[in-house]
Amino acid sequence: MKRIGVLTSGGDAPGMNAAIRAVVRTATANDMSVVGIKRGYNGLLMQNLNPEDDYTLMTARKVSGIVHRGGTVLMTARCKEFLQPKYQQLAIDNMRSLGIEGLVVIGGDGSFAGANALNTLGFPVIGIPGTIDNDLSYTDTTLGFDTAVNTACECVNHIRETSESHERASLVTVMGRGCGDIAIHTALACGAEFALVPEVKWSVEEVAARIKWGVVNGKRSTIIIFAEGAFSSLTSDLPAICERYEALSDIRGDKLTSSKVAEIIEVLSGHETRATVLGYIQRGGTPSAYDRILAARLGSRAVELLRDDRAGLVVGVQENRVIEAPIAEIQGVKRPLNAELKQLVTTLSL
Ligand code: ADP
Ligand code: F6P
Repeated sequence: MKRIGVLTSGGDAPGMNAAIRAVVRTATANDMSVVGIKRGYNGLLMQNLNPEDDYTLMTARKVSGIVHRGGTVLMTARCKEFLQPKYQQLAIDNMRSLGIEGLVVIGGDGSFAGANALNTLGFPVIGIPGTIDNDLSYTDTTLGFDTAVNTACECVNHIRETSESHERASLVTVMGRGCGDIAIHTALACGAEFALVPEVKWSVEEVAARIKWGVVNGKRSTIIIFAEGAFSSLTSDLPAICERYEALSDIRGDKLTSSKVAEIIEVLSGHETRATVLGYIQRGGTPSAYDRILAARLGSRAVELLRDDRAGLVVGVQENRVIEAPIAEIQGVKRPLNAELKQLVTTLSL
């Protein structure tokens, strides 16, 4: 292969830039040129008047000074058209017209579905797992997860100080879509009392009872790490609860939010409870050393695979070894809950 493309797709993740740099520099070292595709799969459709808005030639110098930066210099986006086979074929035709013979896709499970489609249509693709969610089953960790957890921990440390001073409970909502990994890791690292996650059923009654227990046993604060997907695993009959308490009459029938969950827990426990939604602060920021090193290893392996005419694969890491797996087999496979870590959060919160 003489020329390859690289793109970032889906939600950005710290470490994507370090991965782009690794792809470009490894390709350069192997006498391959690299075309950077902008805004995820949108760039491959080449619908802009100015080609520079869709793609750009990457050189070793063009990726100078980005290894430590969050976000992605290629920009990222979601691309609805790409779900349709006719646009996937258009993308392949466009890449061929530019002399691109293989593509590196840096993204999450959705982006891998797009990569799988290209591969099925006969275009060589390698996927690099780039998402803070850590929701891919075949790899121990994804690019950006370590940084996101560290950022969340930093925020929880701040929240704990004010919670202790006011003797309050705090519900802190973290990202992760349908995966509770950010929540569980943050909870364990911060010594939180709870990690409420989409994979495990929970109730506001048990949380309230545990807060009361903590107060009686001298706890000055209770930290509840709440995965954004955990609304779906709540088992409590909220309309019935809200019916019983006058203070909750105004939230009957409303769409549930973190603040409302905190309000309900406060009423049930009789203990002041506040909510903080961390949001996009977890997605930006300087990538951790771990994520940068992972990006270097995965980016480099991705190019070596294309160089050796191996494609239709995703790269990842298992027990600190870089591994590869067929994209068609791993795509859409849900990551199982880490029950050991979840249990540790509870055991260590006495
Ligand atoms: P992530 O890669 O972070 O999981 P998304 O699920 O938003 O992010 O997917 C990113 C993009 O991948 C989508 O906007 C779309 O362009 C592409 N994509 C997702 N699912 C498919 C699919 N089934 N077929 C083709 N392309 C897809
Ligand atoms: O997949 C990464 C992620 O940050 C999820 O944790 C979150 O649910 C989602 O993206 C938010 O997406 P958007 O950028 O479209 O708001």
